[in-house]
Amino acid sequence: VNIILLGPPGAGKGTQARLLVEGRGLVQLSTGDMLREARNSGTEMGNLVAAVMDRGELVTDEIVVGLIREKIAGSDAPGFIFDGFPRTLAQADALAALMDEIGQRIDAVIEMQVDDAALVSRISGRYTCGNCGEVYHDDTKPTKVPGVCDVCGSTDLRRRADDNAESLRTRLLEYYKKTSPLIGYYYANRLLRTVDGLAEIDQVAAQIDGILNRID
Ligand code: AP5
Ligand code: ZN
Repeated sequence: VNIILLGPPGAGKGTQARLLVEGRGLVQLSTGDMLREARNSGTEMGNLVAAVMDRGELVTDEIVVGLIREKIAGSDAPGFIFDGFPRTLAQADALAALMDEIGQRIDAVIEMQVDDAALVSRISGRYTCGNCGEVYHDDTKPTKVPGVCDVCGSTDLRRRADDNAESLRTRLLEYYKKTSPLIGYYYANRLLRTVDGLAEIDQVAAQIDGILNRID
């Protein structure tokens, strides 16, 4: 199955994607992670997008569609979880065309509903393992041993440069202006499913599981 996780910054897309990778062997395709990787390795493209990302604006459709194309071409994955992509109607059309090219389709678009007030505390409490990518939160999901990743033992725990109040405001505006129209688009395509993203992590995972079980 191929699914899209759709929701505002901090909705829990990355958290749920990682659980699906573990539980179902699907492959997570996070354009945010790919762009951060490009920045960290200092590629030309990475340098180009750094300032845009830190401000909280979207990078161009060409760049992210190119990244996704590279990942799905020739992949023998049993299915993809698109996390943070598509984010514009143009990206959604491009994804449909890419899936056509490889003879596959999107099976469900899972909208993670949360209210904006919750997002501020989610984003401001977030930190991530720089080695394995596990996502933590100061209050709702701290590491068991302070400063040490539960999954891989790394002490390289990081906060993101765009996780500040000013960039979050821009990210939310970008979401409402450019990404939220996708909800109507996928509803009309009969692919939209909704989960309560305010529930606890396990309960959100259970809701997503229920949706996927009805597809298989
Ligand atoms: P990206 O990396 O995609 O960031 P985002 O969409 O802002 O999403 P986040 O990673 O902030 O949130 P999330 O929903 O994954 O939440 P998480 O699971 O971490 O994009 C970054 C930037 O890259 C963009 O601003 C843009 O510049 C660029 N970009 C990326 N894709 C692009 C595209 N397609 N087109 C153009 N530009 C693009 O959870 C958040 C926190 O909450 C964590 O601390 C977590 O532990 C906690 N948490 C999660 N679930 C729960 C729960 N149920 N209960 C309590 N706490 C929870
Ligand atoms: Zn780790």
